[in-house]
Amino acid sequence: MSKKENKNDLMEKIVSLCKRRGFIFPGSEIYGGLANSWSYGPYGTELKNNIKKLWWKKFVQDRDDVVGIDGPIILHPKLWEASGHTAGFNDAMVDCKSCQSRFRADHLVEQATGDDLEGKLEAMTTVLRDKKVPCPNCKKSDWTEVRNFNMMFKTNMNGIAEDIYLRPETAGAIFIEFKNIMDSMRVKLPFGVAQIGKAFRNEIVTGNFIFRVREFEQMEIEYFINPKAKWENLFEEWLVLQEEFVAELGADKKNVRRREHAKEKLSHYSKKTVDIEYNFPFGFGELFGLAHRGNFDLTQHSKFSQEKLEYFDQEKNQRFIPHVIEPTFGVERSILVALLSAYHEETVNDGMRVVMKFPKNLAPIQVAIFPLLKNKPELVAKAKVIFDGLKNSFICEFDDNGNVGKRYRRQDEIGTPYCVTVDFDSLEDGMATVRDRDDMKQERVAIVDLKSYFENKFS
Ligand code: GAP
Repeated sequence: MSKKENKNDLMEKIVSLCKRRGFIFPGSEIYGGLANSWSYGPYGTELKNNIKKLWWKKFVQDRDDVVGIDGPIILHPKLWEASGHTAGFNDAMVDCKSCQSRFRADHLVEQATGDDLEGKLEAMTTVLRDKKVPCPNCKKSDWTEVRNFNMMFKTNMNGIAEDIYLRPETAGAIFIEFKNIMDSMRVKLPFGVAQIGKAFRNEIVTGNFIFRVREFEQMEIEYFINPKAKWENLFEEWLVLQEEFVAELGADKKNVRRREHAKEKLSHYSKKTVDIEYNFPFGFGELFGLAHRGNFDLTQHSKFSQEKLEYFDQEKNQRFIPHVIEPTFGVERSILVALLSAYHEETVNDGMRVVMKFPKNLAPIQVAIFPLLKNKPELVAKAKVIFDGLKNSFICEFDDNGNVGKRYRRQDEIGTPYCVTVDFDSLEDGMATVRDRDDMKQERVAIVDLKSYFENKFS
């Protein structure tokens, strides 16, 4: 099997495991599904929450220069005019006249010629027609003109005449709270404002499981700095922190790289933009991004809102609009990296085992507790006592279905680092068997010591 087939195979295995084991289900499945939408099942929800918790702790709670907010999804429509999204948040789209399929025109052109004609609509139309680029779906070549398509989801709101949009990124909600943060918190430059939340983009083409979807979550920080500060050092520090976070998802360093955007492709206000890319089964793709956005956003929101969005430097008695460095992280892509990195197949005595070797703090279940037999009330009662003793400190699951071997296989597939089994000896000697997910070794541990034993394991 070629390397490429192997990698596609891996994605298929992940999608199938996610459905089979309650991580991620196809959205609206009983109604025939809804174009690449996904629903998080019980273990997927735990994994997602653990990733968000890890991010929030690392970038908000553990830092004295970052504060967090939770802004609305529906925001004033003027915000999107000010940020440039109403006019410019476009992708180039083209329709096949023969089968009515819709595509990203820039992607078709790049695949056919290797040229990047982003933003050049006429040139893209010419290439598609002159080179008779075939439709990936029906193989004919009969294209409409290439035109811009605005990716914001439009809706309406009682009492408001203008169109309302679901936010296409979380950043906007941060910028418009700049003044409130300045007035209510004692922040001093440099400082960041962080947010985790939903974003919506009416992508022309979605796919690669949860890599490109229309409803997703972002974890973003606007890190405000003095325009005279040495931004290059701070930029590098943020890149290192982003790479650290990829490692904390369980990723192997060799699958991660930086890609700096070419100077001529940068927006007029940006000094530098770098993507952190991951080697997904379909090739390297953007995982996170880091952009120097100058004072563009605060200046625009100041202009459109007529509010002064300035920082007052008391020591120097100066007012100015800060610059901003924006580290942005996608939750779905983080989950995908955690799933891909965790997936292992191993040959064991009784065949092959699939084991998700998540970092222990990300595992959906941290400790599973079993009575050896489900029809022995004394074993069940003891296992329940252990569950109650551990549940406030760890994410626990009580499992008495099937035989112990099957329970281990199931817990391996959902990535549970430790399983505790109560057997008949436990009733006599007060010990239980702890089995380690990664090396499958088992040891007897006194039930009274289990909490401190796991505290050590998870520290
Ligand atoms: N505020 C900057 C911003 O939104 P972006 O590169 O457009 O930048 C940031 O998006 C991150 O959001 C990406 O690095 C990616 O992880 C995630 N993301 C963007 N579009 C996505 C989509 N359609 N599906 C899943 N994740 C997406």
